[in-house]
Order: sequence, then structure tokens, then C-alpha cells
Amino acid sequence: MGSLVWFTLLGFLTINSCAGRPHPCKSPPLLQGSLSMIGQSEDFQAIAKFNYDALEQRIHFGEFGYYQNKTFHVDALLLYKEGVMYKINRHNKTCTRKELKSSFHPLKVPHNATLLGQVVLGSMSHHGESLLVNSWAGEIPEHKAKYLLTFTKLGCIPVSCLYNSPKTGGITISFFNNIVGIVDPNVFIPPPYCTTATLEEGSNDFFSIF
Ligand SMILES: *[C@@H]1O[C@H](CO)[C@@H](O)[C@H](O)[C@H]1NC(C)=O
Ligand SMILES: *[C@@H]1O[C@H](CO)[C@@H](O)[C@H](O)[C@H]1NC(C)=O
Ligand SMILES: *[C@@H]1O[C@H](CO)[C@@H](O)[C@H](O)[C@H]1NC(C)=O
Repeated sequence: MGSLVWFTLLGFLTINSCAGRPHPCKSPPLLQGSLSMIGQSEDFQAIAKFNYDALEQRIHFGEFGYYQNKTFHVDALLLYKEGVMYKINRHNKTCTRKELKSSFHPLKVPHNATLLGQVVLGSMSHHGESLLVNSWAGEIPEHKAKYLLTFTKLGCIPVSCLYNSPKTGGITISFFNNIVGIVDPNVFIPPPYCTTATLEEGSNDFFSIF
């Protein structure tokens, strides 16, 4: 009798911990895909291909953008472990090398984010038309920032990010065509003409690419 109660209780706990409220999740450590980005404050739009490696703490952007009515093309390589950031112009074979002062932030839902809800994107009418996602909101008081994040329920793949702070203004990022893994690891190796570029000082972070 005692063991029956035990098994019932165990089953109850297992079901609840699996089917219960979603927990903040972390994206796969190797991810590549595309993103679109719109900045509210400075009339800024960009589409980028990205490669993300959380194991070696490095990010590569191949970007085509639009800033204050001018198009721009940046190929940026951020190597956080080495503390350097390269802006590469593959067309002219030129490169600038800068100190990267910020620390690496893995793609994840912060531990103190609040679950807004679990919803279906697309349609529930037919098989294959739907994507189940979790949406989270939170604040970073240090930066007076607010965010809203959406990740897929299965796989913890980023779907969208809305971020607002006095420093950056409102930024909307949408992710698409993601692949788990890195198809070409060479994107993380700076081209030869970058190694001779002199190191420029300055406080540079993710946002200074743009
Ligand atoms: C960009 O172009 C639009 C439409 O031509 C114009 O209204 C706007 O002032 C321009 N913005 C900048 C920053 O030049
Ligand atoms: C390459 O350099 C030339 C001459 O300095 C410049 O006019 C051109 O805009 C550069 N190309 C790119 C893609 O930046
Ligand atoms: C949430 O956690 C982050 C990182 O630990 C911290 O910087 C931030 O202040 C926290 N947010 C709130 C509302 O406490």
C-alpha cells in the first residue's frame, strides 16, 4: 500500500514537472540564420546573416543595412574571448580591428524574466501551419531597459526580441531561417589582411557595429 502511494506521488510530480509552466530556456550553443532589425530612434534597418558560437564565445554578422537613408554593408566578427572586434570590407580587402569591451551574452531567456504566455504563431487549422512559442518580458534596471522575448517552445530557438532603453531606443529583431549548428566554421577566422590591422582603442560593444 505504501509503495502504491509512493508511485502515485512520484507520477504526479513527474507529470507536473514535465507539463508544468515553461522555464526560461537557453538556445543551442551553435546556431546560424538570418535576422532583420529595425531601430526606432535613428531610422535604421538591417538584414543580417549571423553565425553564433556560445562555446567559443564568437559571433559573425554578414550584414546589409540601411541607416538614415544610406545603405551600408558591414561584415563584423566579434571574438569575445580575445576581446577584439573586426569590421571587414571583403570587397576592398580592408579591415578595422577594435577592442571589444563588453562581455558575451548567450542567447537565452534571463532567469528573472516573467512568462507572458504560450501561444501559437500561424494557424491551428492545419498540420504544419503552426509554431508553438513562449513569450517572456522583463526589465534591466541598470540600463533602464525593457524587453520582450519570444522563443520556440521546442528547441528554444529565438523568434523575436523587442528591446527598449534610453541608450538604444526601441529595437525590434526577428529571427528566421535558423539552422542548429555551424555549416562553415571558417566564418570565425579573420581574413589575412585583418591580422595586420592596428588595434583601435575605444569602448565597443554589440551596438557599435551599426
Ligand atoms: C529619409 O528619407 C525620407 C523620405 O525621402 C525623409 O523624409 C527623411 O527625412 C530622410 N531621413 C534622413 C535622416 O535623411
Ligand atoms: C572601396 O574603396 C573605394 C575607394 O576608397 C570606395 O570608394 C568604396 O566605397 C569602397 N567600397 C566599399 C564596398 O566600401
Ligand atoms: C534580472 O537579472 C539580471 C541579470 O542577473 C539583472 O541585471 C537585472 O537587474 C535583473 N532584473 C530585475 C528586474 O531584477
